[in-house]
Amino acid sequence: MNYKIFVTRDIPDDGLKMLRQLKNVVLDIYPGEKAIPRKELLKRVKGADIILSILTEKIDKQVFDAAGPQLKMIANFAVGFDNVDVKEAKKRGILVTNTPHENVCETVAEHTIALIFALAHRITEADRFTRAGRYECWGPKMMLGTDLWKKTVGVIGAGRIGGAVLKRLADGFDVKVIYNDMKKNPIFEKATGAKYRTLDQLLKEADFVSLHVPLCTATKHLISTRELKLMKPTAFIINTARGPIIDEKALLKALASKQIAGAGLDVFECEPMIDCDPRDNLELRKMENVVLTPHTASATIEARQAMSRVAAENIIAFIKGKTPPNVCLG
Ligand code: GLV
Repeated sequence: MNYKIFVTRDIPDDGLKMLRQLKNVVLDIYPGEKAIPRKELLKRVKGADIILSILTEKIDKQVFDAAGPQLKMIANFAVGFDNVDVKEAKKRGILVTNTPHENVCETVAEHTIALIFALAHRITEADRFTRAGRYECWGPKMMLGTDLWKKTVGVIGAGRIGGAVLKRLADGFDVKVIYNDMKKNPIFEKATGAKYRTLDQLLKEADFVSLHVPLCTATKHLISTRELKLMKPTAFIINTARGPIIDEKALLKALASKQIAGAGLDVFECEPMIDCDPRDNLELRKMENVVLTPHTASATIEARQAMSRVAAENIIAFIKGKTPPNVCLG
């Protein structure tokens, strides 16, 4: 049998090369850098056996219907798979896979740590200040940041990325590490040296709170007004997971009123908009105490090539009648 694979955006080529080596595969790749328009997506998926999707595409009932009954697999090019209706896929016997990889964990952990340092040492703010020609005289009180050394870093989500963040920081920067998850995780504790805290305890205690949970019904707005109030006024929050985990409106209010010290955000609630409601005059991009990146925490050549290979490995296993290594159970 020949497999028609529709790829919703051009991806780094390692995985595509692997797929091109298969004789029974026809690849149709939507070209360019921009997300495929929904109408075009619904047209182009018709007749596909496999869709290699990108996290910007909502893969739902409508897409499954548009593709047709032969659709057998969604190979999502991302670690998160909240863009795919896994329940509906399961009902229809469509397999969903994602692309976790050690390299991706380390890359996202590095980016998280970069945001932590950028906030603590006010790097992006100082860069803007210097570029604007405002450095006129060195001052003992000019642009004072905060040390990471001896501070407490708390991660919410005891997965591989959260673990990599804590391990790197505990090993290299002499910080106290704590974590929260649905329950205590002795393996995580052993690997990172982190101590368990309830969510409220962690929010009260941490100087840097970093989010590493998947987006699902239970984690949507996990951090909102009440939780932000528990944080210290000197504390920072970092989100490299998914935007809607933080109630962005509540965060903006907390940042504007200096209820917390700042935020490092790689993801946004109304992505790709970096602010759900710019008319409310609480615009993120105007705040000095935030560091913003455009969902690029895994954007290194090494990580994205690894994701490309993992997506291809999942597809190849499926085509060969084997269980792919990264099936999403929902
Ligand atoms: C990126 O956000 C991913 O989930 O891989």
